[in-house]
Amino acid sequence: MVSSYLIDIARVSKHFQGKRAITALDSVTLRIDRGDMVSIVGPSGSSKSTPLNLIGGVDQPSAGEIRIDGRAIGLLSDDDLTRLRRDRIGFIFQFFNLLPSLNCIENVSLPLHLKGWPRKKVRDRARPLLEMVQLSHRMEHLPDELSAGERQRCAADRGTRRNVCGDERP
Ligand SMILES: Nc1ncnc2c1ncn2[C@@H]1O[C@H](COP(=O)(O)OP(=O)(O)OP(=O)(O)O)[C@@H](O)[C@H]1O
Ligand SMILES: [Mg+2]
Repeated sequence: MVSSYLIDIARVSKHFQGKRAITALDSVTLRIDRGDMVSIVGPSGSSKSTPLNLIGGVDQPSAGEIRIDGRAIGLLSDDDLTRLRRDRIGFIFQFFNLLPSLNCIENVSLPLHLKGWPRKKVRDRARPLLEMVQLSHRMEHLPDELSAGERQRCAADRGTRRNVCGDERP
């Protein structure tokens, strides 16, 4: 039966190989429904980022299955996975991951650019987001020219729901 959950993680394990092998996730099962707001809480190193990377399709599990909107993401082609990340997933990275050659507003609106939205519409969508986090006066600045807190807010803006357009047309 196809899962009706928004996020459905079934018996997922993640092992990191290296000098010292680590089992970060050991057969974890978790279901998240539409509208749920979920926090993953725990001490540093207790495997919070690991499942987020797997759900976001930026890393692959060692075992088990992850379904987003009923689709097993392990079975998607690279192109389909890229589209899923672009259209459905908003990521606020722990280490920001801003693109150094793009300015603040270009970083924030990257998902919409990639979707082919026209430049003006992209800027109109991104500007109020930057205003909300008091970054309107830094829109044209490169990440190198921002303070740590400004970079953090820029990265947070890029990950917001209003920026992840789903099936919305330009
Ligand atoms: N690429 C990797 N190679 C080897 N071990 C890794 C790798 N990534 C994470 N780990 C290990 O997996 C465990 C969980 O890492 P994870 O990044 O999920 O922790 P976290 O809960 O997000 O921690 P923090 O709160 O410090 O961000 C840690 O013990 C870490 O050392
Ligand atoms: Mg982490």
